[in-house]
Amino acid sequence: MLTIERLSGPFGSEITGLDLNTEPDSATFDKIVEALHRHAVICIRGQQSLTPEKHIAFSKRFGELEVHVQSSFNLDGYPEIYCITNCVDEKGDALGLAEAGRVWHTDLSYMREPSRCSLLHALEVPVDEDGNPLGDTLFASCTMAYEALADEMKERLRTMKAIHSYRQVYERIKAKSKPGRQGLKDFTEEDFQKVPPTIHPAIIAHPHTGAPILFCDFGTTESFVGMSQDESDTLLEKLTAHTVRPEFVYTHKWQCGDLMIWDNIQTQHFAVDDYWLPQRRRMQRTTVKGPAPRAAG
Ligand code: SIN
Repeated sequence: MLTIERLSGPFGSEITGLDLNTEPDSATFDKIVEALHRHAVICIRGQQSLTPEKHIAFSKRFGELEVHVQSSFNLDGYPEIYCITNCVDEKGDALGLAEAGRVWHTDLSYMREPSRCSLLHALEVPVDEDGNPLGDTLFASCTMAYEALADEMKERLRTMKAIHSYRQVYERIKAKSKPGRQGLKDFTEEDFQKVPPTIHPAIIAHPHTGAPILFCDFGTTESFVGMSQDESDTLLEKLTAHTVRPEFVYTHKWQCGDLMIWDNIQTQHFAVDDYWLPQRRRMQRTTVKGPAPRAAG
């Protein structure tokens, strides 16, 4: 039987009693979507045997899937699955990108139509010598962050727009990459031109709940329109520090078989770098396209 329970933290819920190798019926799927919009992140436990085909099929119920621009990390035969892992093949070549979540970001906010949600499947979870999970993922609620802004800041941001770019998140992740770890593949100017910067309102309305959301993130936001780079950097740092305050953050401790679904429109996330081979972390992500953001009224 399907159960939905709150996770320990300011938001998020956990779903048990589902095997996603059997497609949920539409009433069950509606409950999952409702939980996602209400709780912002949901963890469907116990999906150890979920196949790539079923992961893709379930993800497509939420909408069209994106194929990641770092295409060498897409799973062979399944381009809609992006591999996030520190594991390497027998030649020592990376089987995915370990560093995907090293900066606070919203997946694909550099697209004109950013992602509605991502679905990350935990195949291997690193543990410390006592068996405690490592490689947590932190999620911040940008709805809660917006609500807690001072009125003057809400008013200041109301008509502002931000420029988001893949180049920005690429450079930010690259700067965090540790020596000896294989990170992002080199991108040429031509590659970057395929994902040009885009402009979104700084405060958007959630397309389903209507709630206002602070929509700029340290990973992908280059600058605010009409501001100098220095002014923009100062504002972005201030907004990021506000958004990731502990009262707006849920920390996910992974279990093997978790399928974590997060609403990209109302959250940002960050993956903790506290493990190293032979501690293996192997995750597979699908990313669902969403609507073009609209400014909150
Ligand atoms: C991501 O940014 O999608 C990766 C999150 C993670 O590795 O936990």
